[in-house]
Amino acid sequence: MFTYPQPATIIYSSSHIENSLIEGKTVRLRPFSVDDIEFLLRWNNDLEYSGEYEPFEPVSRKELEEWLPREKAGQLWYIIETNEGEKVGQVVGRDQEDGSTQIGYRVIPPVRERGYCTEAIALLIGHIFNLGIERITAEVNSRNIPSRRVLEKLGFKEIEYKEKTFGLNGVWLDGIVYELRLGDLGVF
Ligand SMILES: CC(C)(COP(=O)(O)OP(=O)(O)OC[C@H]1O[C@@H](n2cnc3c(N)ncnc32)[C@H](O)[C@@H]1OP(=O)(O)O)[C@@H](O)C(=O)NCCC(=O)NCCS
Repeated sequence: MFTYPQPATIIYSSSHIENSLIEGKTVRLRPFSVDDIEFLLRWNNDLEYSGEYEPFEPVSRKELEEWLPREKAGQLWYIIETNEGEKVGQVVGRDQEDGSTQIGYRVIPPVRERGYCTEAIALLIGHIFNLGIERITAEVNSRNIPSRRVLEKLGFKEIEYKEKTFGLNGVWLDGIVYELRLGDLGVF
């Protein structure tokens, strides 16, 4: 069984901001590039990738080709790949007006439940805190147990329960806002 080390240990030891590649023990985060278009086309058009609790947003090659070069400041987009170079998912961090960063993430179905997302988000957290941001949030559909589990394993705390906030297939579902503060880790 995979035993996950304390998040603080991972965060402290594995961020390599200088070359933009953020390397961990099993996976690394690599900024999106045009080489990722085939991966994004394959998976962002697959219902299983967004999962049953997140909106399905299909995308065309043309949209991706236009979007990639316009990748905005204030947003961190990374492909999650294994250290062997297999692309397994994506993460995003979006700067918010209050100075915090909101994160999002997806892992492709065939390789879920191997700890990839947890490690990828631990790496992203370390990167964001190293950028000087002191608060990270995530908003999750209350029924999305795997996603909630990832956040809770990494020390995120539930701070708000929002009733009927996610509209999905004509049904309104509840959302939970989680946060992680730099001070919560006590290691920096
Ligand atoms: C959420 C998601 C990214 C997790 O990726 P992952 O690589 O499988 O995550 P990890 O393996 O690091 O951790 C998943 C945890 O959820 C647990 N889990 C998964 N399904 C579960 C279930 N039905 N009940 C209880 N726990 C469950 C796993 O056992 C694991 O916890 P553990 O390490 O304590 O055993 C992936 O499921 C996904 O892409 N979902 C669709 C998109 C999505 O919902 N994104 C999040 C938006 S907020």
